Amino acid sequence: MRGARYLDGLDARPVYPDAAAIARLTALGGPLPDRPSDPAETLALLDALGSPATVATAGPRYFGFVTGGALPAALAANWLAGAWDQNAFSSVASPAAVAIENIALGWLLDALGLPAECGAAFVTGATMANVAGLAAARHAVLARVGWDVEAQGLFGAPPITVVVGEEAHATVFKALGLLGLGRERVLRVPADDQGRMRADAFPSLAAGPAIVCLQAGNVNSGACDPLAALIPRAHATGAWAHVDGAFGLWAAAAPTRAQLVRGVADADSWATDAHKWLNVSYDSGLAFVREPAHLRAAMSASAAYLLVGEEREPLAYTPDSSRRARGVEVWAALRALGRAGVADLVERCCRHAARFADGLRAAGYEVLNEVALNQVLAAFGDDETTRRVIAGIQLDGTCWCGGTVWHGRAAMRISVSSWATTEADVERSLEAMIRVARDTRRMG
Ligand SMILES: Cc1ncc(COP(=O)(O)O)c(C=O)c1O
Repeated sequence: MRGARYLDGLDARPVYPDAAAIARLTALGGPLPDRPSDPAETLALLDALGSPATVATAGPRYFGFVTGGALPAALAANWLAGAWDQNAFSSVASPAAVAIENIALGWLLDALGLPAECGAAFVTGATMANVAGLAAARHAVLARVGWDVEAQGLFGAPPITVVVGEEAHATVFKALGLLGLGRERVLRVPADDQGRMRADAFPSLAAGPAIVCLQAGNVNSGACDPLAALIPRAHATGAWAHVDGAFGLWAAAAPTRAQLVRGVADADSWATDAHKWLNVSYDSGLAFVREPAHLRAAMSASAAYLLVGEEREPLAYTPDSSRRARGVEVWAALRALGRAGVADLVERCCRHAARFADGLRAAGYEVLNEVALNQVLAAFGDDETTRRVIAGIQLDGTCWCGGTVWHGRAAMRISVSSWATTEADVERSLEAMIRVARDTRRMG
């Protein structure tokens, strides 16, 4: 009830909460209550103080970071799964969670055009999906030279060459750091003006343990590395090809955009998010690995009592053990959308992004990237003016966009990633952006 009322109110309220609403959150605090409270009264307090302080990311005009909404079927499934309270770590703990996750996995691989035999981990987000995919990579490239990294660690191990694009997402470097591969002992390949790894600058690799980290969907421009050229280059010397496709991998699910990630299915591992473009609730990320055995070797725990079933046991593929049943929302989203609905969701967001770019250009502002996917980078004059326009748009409340720095210039980043955004929302947001930009420039 409260959740439904909250969702109904999203269209009419400012996208970002005001400072007073955020300040009122302190009233949720105070000392730990000595005595129990009525649960209904507890929830009423949470709604009264918490709801007005939320960012309306579930609404249709939030374009910050790369943030999906929550499809009605996915959100309802999340609520139902909350009531189920299943522990999805094993088939004995929850036959339903594992069965549903397995079905969702098959549908995901189908929708994304990835090999049906892939192993997978349902994790918290693309960050952990990068960790899982790269842990499988680390296992495989060292196992090939006779080194058992899970047993021996990296002390005394043969070195691994790691190749990363100059514009790889920060979380790829974080994943490399967590895995002991080092954030800085990597070969960085220069990027082109859209942030794509330059094929002509790709290093010649010697045979031996090597991992190439590619990207589908630059967090700023949306551009994808030339995968069809680079994955075979990696494989030519036996290197492992990993693709961070947090949102860009979903281009593969839309026939109109699939050419942007041509060749992606030839990689060895992939990281993506379901909470971005598939529009399921937070948190939901996915790692896929072509040869499941590598992921299993990297992720299996040794305690025999945990592995009791014959089935694909999730804990043998994930960094965590006890976990919520994330596959339920993924299943519901894919069941409700179908193949055509997923393709339409991706295509619609890309069309909206193109309309933002056209509208801003027509009003005399600069679009800094080629808008091929769902990301738009806009500048409204010099850096100071652009920053003031971004602040003005955020304050105006019609929509919300964040700022970034693109090749040394301040830019506003518009990411269209929500199922809920309509053409009318795009026009209303464009009108607000242009109005605020003109007012800002008029005021000097
Ligand atoms: C390319 C890329 N990789 C990784 C991530 C990290 O995703 P998450 O925050 O879901 O872990 C993002 C987030 O925007 C991204 O765009």
